[in-house]
Formats: sequence, C-alpha cells, structure tokens
Amino acid sequence: MMQEGRPGRFVFPPWTNLARPILAISLVAAPVYLVALVWLGASPKTTDVGYQPEQPVPYSHALHAGDLGIDCRYCHNTVEVAAKAAVPPTQTCMNCHAKIRTASAKLISVRESYATGVSVPWVRIHDLPDYVYFNHSAHVRRGVGCVECHGRVDRMEVVSQVEPLSMSWCLDCHRNPDRRLRPPEMVTKMDWVPPDDPDTYGRQLRAANNINPSTDCWTCHR
Ligand code: HEC
Ligand code: HEC
Ligand code: HEC
Ligand code: HEC
Ligand code: HEC
Repeated sequence: MMQEGRPGRFVFPPWTNLARPILAISLVAAPVYLVALVWLGASPKTTDVGYQPEQPVPYSHALHAGDLGIDCRYCHNTVEVAAKAAVPPTQTCMNCHAKIRTASAKLISVRESYATGVSVPWVRIHDLPDYVYFNHSAHVRRGVGCVECHGRVDRMEVVSQVEPLSMSWCLDCHRNPDRRLRPPEMVTKMDWVPPDDPDTYGRQLRAANNINPSTDCWTCHR
C-alpha cells in the first residue's frame, strides 16, 4: 500500500518537520495555542485535490459501485468498525471474477495476484500526515456519508481526491455538522437527499443522536 514520490506531498516547507514538537509543546503550554492558531490561520492550506494516480488494474467504481450497484461495504468492509476502510484483497474480486470475464486482459494482474498470493499494488490516494488521527467508524456510524468526504465515487472511472483534507476542512464540519448528517443506514447511499429542509432535518438528527464533534487539538493529534 505504500507508495513513493507522491507528487504534491513534498511541497511542504521544511518547518512542517517541526509540527510534532510544536504540537507537543502547545498541548502543555496554553499561550502557545494562540500562537499556533494564528500561525495556522496564516499558513497555506495543504491540498491534494484532483490527485488521481493511475492504478495497476483499470478497476472502475462507476461500473461496480454505480452500474452494478455493489455496496461500498462489500469491498471496504472495515469502514464501520475500524479506523481504516480496508482496500479489498484479491479474493473479493475473485468472488465474481473466477466466473465473470475470466479471459479479460484487463484482469490479468488480478488473476496473477490470485495465483501468486501477492497483493495487487493499488496506489494510495487519500493520505493524511502521520501526526493526524482519523477514524472512519467514528464518522460512518454517526451518519456522515462517504460522499461528504470522497464525492461521487460511484461515478468515477478512476478515483480522485475531491476534498483538501486540510485541518480547516475537518474543523469546518466539526464546528457545524448539521447539514452533513444523515441516518447512519444511508451512509453508502451516494444519491441520498434529506426528506425535509436540510438545516432543520440535520439539526433534529444531531439532537436525536447527540452528535457533538470535538474541536480539541487532541481529538485529531494524539
Ligand atoms: C468491488 C469492490 C469495491 C466496491 C464495491 C467499492 N470499492 Fe472503493 N475501492 C476498491 C478498490 C480495489 C480500490 C483501490 C483502487 C482504486 O483506487 O480504484 C478502491 C479505492 C477506493 C477509494 C480510494 C482509497 C485511497 O487509496 O485513498 C475510495 C475513497 C473508495 N474506494 C470509496 C468507495 C466508495 C464510497 C464506494 C461505494 C460507493 C466504494 N469505494 C465501492 C474496491 C471497491
Ligand atoms: C459482485 C461481482 C463483482 C465483484 C466483487 C467484482 N467485479 Fe469486476 N466486474 C463484474 C462484472 C459483472 C463485470 C462486467 C460487466 C460487463 O459485462 O461489462 C466486471 C468487470 C470488471 C472489469 C472490466 C473487465 C473487462 O474486460 O472489461 C475489471 C477490470 C474488473 N471488473 C475488476 C475488478 C476488480 C479489481 C475487483 C475487485 C476489487 C472486481 N472487479 C470485483 C463483477 C464484479
Ligand atoms: C469524514 C470524512 C470521511 C468519511 C465520511 C469517509 N471517509 Fe474515507 N477517508 C477519509 C480520509 C481523511 C482518509 C485518509 C485517511 C488517512 O490517511 O489515514 C480516507 C481514506 C479512505 C480509504 C483508503 C483506506 C484508508 O482507510 O485510509 C478508503 C478505501 C475510504 N476512505 C473509503 C471510504 C468509504 C467506503 C466511506 C463510506 C462508508 C468513507 N471512506 C467515508 C475521510 C472520510
Ligand atoms: C462532514 C463532516 C466531518 C468532516 C469533514 C470531518 N469530521 Fe470528524 N467527525 C464528524 C462527526 C459528525 C463526528 C462524530 C461526533 C460524535 O460522535 O458526537 C466526528 C468525529 C471525529 C473523531 C472521533 C472523536 C472521538 O470521539 O473519538 C475524530 C478523531 C475525527 N472526527 C477526526 C476528523 C479529522 C482528522 C477530519 C479531517 C481529516 C475530520 N474528522 C473531518 C464530522 C466530520
Ligand atoms: C478535526 C481534526 C483536527 C483538530 C481538532 C485539530 N487539528 Fe491540527 N491538523 C488536522 C489535520 C487534518 C492536519 C493536516 C493538514 C494538512 O495535511 O495540511 C493538521 C495539521 C496541524 C499542524 C501542522 C501544520 C500544518 O498547517 O499543516 C499543526 C501544528 C496542528 N494541526 C495543530 C493543531 C492545534 C494546536 C489544534 C487545536 C487548537 C489542532 N491542530 C486541532 C486536524 C485537526
């Protein structure tokens, strides 16, 4: 799953190496918070929006999740219970492709992977810095849909990143999540729309489920 030479990742100025010690300090020294906040407010936001690496197999979400209607959780089956949303092993593909399109040239690497036991080297797209803690289940089980953070994956031939994943992007929603909430059973339904005025409906849902995303530093930096 690791990849090298991720373009755009290394435009960080050298001072970002200081992020960890600075965080550690700011967690114990209140005045430094203010400095950090001012500094963050003024720093350019990191963004990999549009990052769309070429994958080793021309696997299409538009075909599988869109046209064929396979639920996201059939493949990303840890997304509701774990921090990581697992990328599926070759076995999952072979559940169907042992019988479907068995001679397809587009599936050669998948068959090879199955025969050798070596995983398909999928290229990672979304990738937060190591000093950020993120958890899928904490979002998905509380009713934040995949589409809020990943866009219409069910229409993508090749997945690309559509949101900046910057700190301010996380905080915008943590401060005001109402319009971004849905019933948890609808999280993978990409075309879901609220049955009512989005603000009113979101506010009700939030109150009913007691949803209060934290903006404390240690929520995401632990
Ligand atoms: C049949 C299996 C399958 C289904 C169904 C599926 N995916 Fe995927 N998904 C994959 C595979 C394989 C990859 C890695 C290759 C790629 O990026 O296309 C992937 C990659 C992704 C990524 C990018 C991961 C990264 O590297 O950052 C996201 C986001 C994603 N899927 C979301 C979804 C969503 C949302 C749905 C439902 C609408 C869905 N997937 C349905 C197999 C699946
Ligand atoms: C639930 C069944 C199912 C699963 C699971 C599944 N596929 Fe498919 N896939 C299909 C079907 C059906 C088609 C063919 C649609 C058609 O007739 O054009 C297809 C087509 C494809 C094609 C295009 C083949 C061609 O010759 O055009 C590729 C590539 C592919 N799948 C890759 C994958 C990969 C990689 C995985 C695992 C991450 C996967 N599929 C999992 C059902 C599945
Ligand atoms: C609140 C925003 C958010 C929601 C909701 C969300 N994701 Fe993600 N997703 C992310 C972020 C951020 C990453 C990068 C995580 C990292 O680098 O540690 C990611 C990474 C992934 C990956 C790559 C593997 C991993 O876990 O790092 C897959 C696959 C994925 N998401 C699928 C999904 C699916 C499927 C859903 C819905 C069931 C979903 N995501 C809902 C933000 C979200
Ligand atoms: C679209 C809205 C949205 C976005 C974007 C979002 N979050 Fe959240 N986040 C939530 C909601 C809602 C909760 C659940 C709050 C609750 O359970 O009361 C949550 C909870 C969390 C938790 C769990 C805290 C705990 O109690 O364990 C962490 C960690 C977290 N978010 C980190 C992040 C990070 C890091 C990002 C950006 C990469 C992010 N979130 C982006 C809405 C969002
Ligand atoms: C909801 C999640 C979340 C919370 C809460 C949060 N951060 Fe962050 N923080 C992030 C993310 C995501 C990044 C990575 C941004 C990137 O890659 O550009 C980040 C990056 C940083 C960095 C690295 C510098 C930079 O601009 O990239 C520092 C320092 C930092 N945060 C300090 C703090 C402090 C201090 C607090 C409390 C006031 C805080 N963070 C609260 C998510 C969060």
